Amino acid sequence: MLTQEQRKKLADRLKQPLRIGSKTISSRLVLAPLAGLNHQAMRESIAAFPGAGLLFTGMLSARAVPTENPRKSHAFSWNDRELPTLVGQLFGNEPEQMAVAARRLESEGFFGADINMGCSVAAIAKKKCGAGLLRHPELACEIVSAVRSAVTFPLMVKLRSGWLDDPAALENTIRLAQAFESAGVDAVTFHPRFSPDRRTRPPQLEHLKLFRQALKIPVFGNGNLCTAADCLHMLEKTGCDGLALGRMAIARPWLFHSLLNAEDEFENALGRLHDSATAYLNRLFELWEPGVARKYYKKFALYLSANFSSGSRMYGRLTKGENLDELQAALESAFAENASGLTRRPNMLMFSM
Ligand SMILES: Cc1cc2nc3c(=O)[nH]c(=O)nc-3n(C[C@H](O)[C@H](O)[C@H](O)COP(=O)(O)O)c2cc1C
Repeated sequence: MLTQEQRKKLADRLKQPLRIGSKTISSRLVLAPLAGLNHQAMRESIAAFPGAGLLFTGMLSARAVPTENPRKSHAFSWNDRELPTLVGQLFGNEPEQMAVAARRLESEGFFGADINMGCSVAAIAKKKCGAGLLRHPELACEIVSAVRSAVTFPLMVKLRSGWLDDPAALENTIRLAQAFESAGVDAVTFHPRFSPDRRTRPPQLEHLKLFRQALKIPVFGNGNLCTAADCLHMLEKTGCDGLALGRMAIARPWLFHSLLNAEDEFENALGRLHDSATAYLNRLFELWEPGVARKYYKKFALYLSANFSSGSRMYGRLTKGENLDELQAALESAFAENASGLTRRPNMLMFSM
């Protein structure tokens, strides 16, 4: 656990404004893209505890974005208050299509666009999208150039160490990122794991350090940031400019606020979990039809349950219900039964389910 002095050091570092292209963000702690989790309701839950410098959407199909109706889509919807810090993440494999999609994001008023070159899910990667682009560097560069010429707002790319578990793959990814920098990319998020690592192997901080040293633009480090100590460790070991929180932001939506205010992130955890889960559940049913609300609540319930020592039992309890009333009642009884089992470090294995 960090001392209060170390917490303060972390907070001061994270609160330094950072320039990304033509815009400046007020904190260096950002929400990583998470498909199926980072929709509007979840981002609102996180924004209820202010602090995140940027909020990313989950990946959005570049094919769909140009004609998508935000009133009908769950992935491509937002509230106007979040637009100044909202980054739309695009996936695709056709430069012109990606450019048109980015233009739509810019015209809607998003902070910027991010290109997904990190996702190694087979269905995405085999179509030369996501991390599949790391195997097709020329296409990756064409996409970046096409998007850069189409928009003036900040352009970011999210990458991982490489497609193969091989030092040469890391070198190739670094060279690719340098080419992106020359083509006008404003910042990158780097998840220092090879595709075959999935999330089972710890992030390789030495990869992130090499990556940081090779570029001039800001680099956000990402992967397994669970506590204030993990955050300080990544910043100090790698020199990266900022941090992107993924799954922990879902499990503990107040984390941005705590870290930026040098608070112990475990303080008031039970009350905060209860109140934010209740508000989130209600908001889901307010925004979307019951089937969709239920689906998103059940996805989130896994992350909420990971905070408790008897997480699987908690999950079973939380998800017993088909409508808002039943799910609210289940939430109350799950908290009453499991309150004493709250753990300082969540069960990360539940995150991988
Ligand atoms: C459910 C889930 C969905 C994800 N979706 C995306 C995505 O849409 N785009 C992306 O670049 N990365 C995605 N990722 C990867 C995360 O952004 C992040 O790199 C990874 O979870 C490691 O960070 P963490 O340990 O802080 O969660 C996803 C990860 C998870 C678990």
